[in-house]
Amino acid sequence: MAQNIYDRPDFLEGYSRLPRSVEGLDGANEWPAMRALLPELRGSRVLDLGCGFGWFCRWAHLQGAASVRGIDVSARMLARAVAESPAEVTYQQADLETVELPVAAYDLAYSSLALHYVEDVGRLFRQIHLALAPGGSFVFSTEHPIFMAPSKPGWVTDPDGRTTWPLDRYLVEGIRKTHWFVDGVVKHHRVIGTTFTRLVQAGFTVTALQEFAPRPEQIAARPELAVEVERPMFLLMRARR
Ligand SMILES: C[S@@+](CC[C@H](N)C(=O)[O-])C[C@H]1O[C@@H](n2cnc3c(N)ncnc32)[C@H](O)[C@@H]1O
Repeated sequence: MAQNIYDRPDFLEGYSRLPRSVEGLDGANEWPAMRALLPELRGSRVLDLGCGFGWFCRWAHLQGAASVRGIDVSARMLARAVAESPAEVTYQQADLETVELPVAAYDLAYSSLALHYVEDVGRLFRQIHLALAPGGSFVFSTEHPIFMAPSKPGWVTDPDGRTTWPLDRYLVEGIRKTHWFVDGVVKHHRVIGTTFTRLVQAGFTVTALQEFAPRPEQIAARPELAVEVERPMFLLMRARR
């Protein structure tokens, strides 16, 4: 059963102030890299897993998708998604740990930064594989395991002035409880090999894997992003059914 932290008002208040919550896709540093992984959407049936405020769902609709459905466990995230979306975009409240998806109903399954909240990702990948039509694509981002693994995630400045990310417990998979707006946010750490293996076991062919780094022009526009090249924050993958 999911924690559903996004329905906690104090968490949601903080999350709602992030650039990605205010500006949408353009406020997400990894969006250009995600977009480059996507197939042509015109005429496609699109599923967004952990859709949040529905920014990607609306974008997919504008690209000419034949249908767009967003799924999220948070009633509060979905309430804003519904309020800001045209009626053709549909939403469903469901937990990705237990969701049952219709068979061969989608051409693209998309998920942005939601899978690290899911414990049984193998079950979810099998559901997504079933839900895609043959040749369909699964494109997702998740927090990178190097970002998620440490017992004390956060930048450290060593005596020489070097900024480093204190990686420990990388090979110890399982729950990580962190502070993000509130204490006790639960995430599920997996090494890259496990994510890759679960995809292959579900029947997918992995066709892209990227460890996101901000591009030079992004760092030029926002110099505070320069530190992000010290370790990857996001893992981006594409797989084909
Ligand atoms: C970081 S937000 C990302 C939202 C959106 N995909 C985006 O990129 O802007 C993570 C989203 O995943 C949802 N989520 C987390 N755990 C979930 C679960 N077990 N089932 C469904 N949705 C979940 C949260 O409610 C939240 O809306």
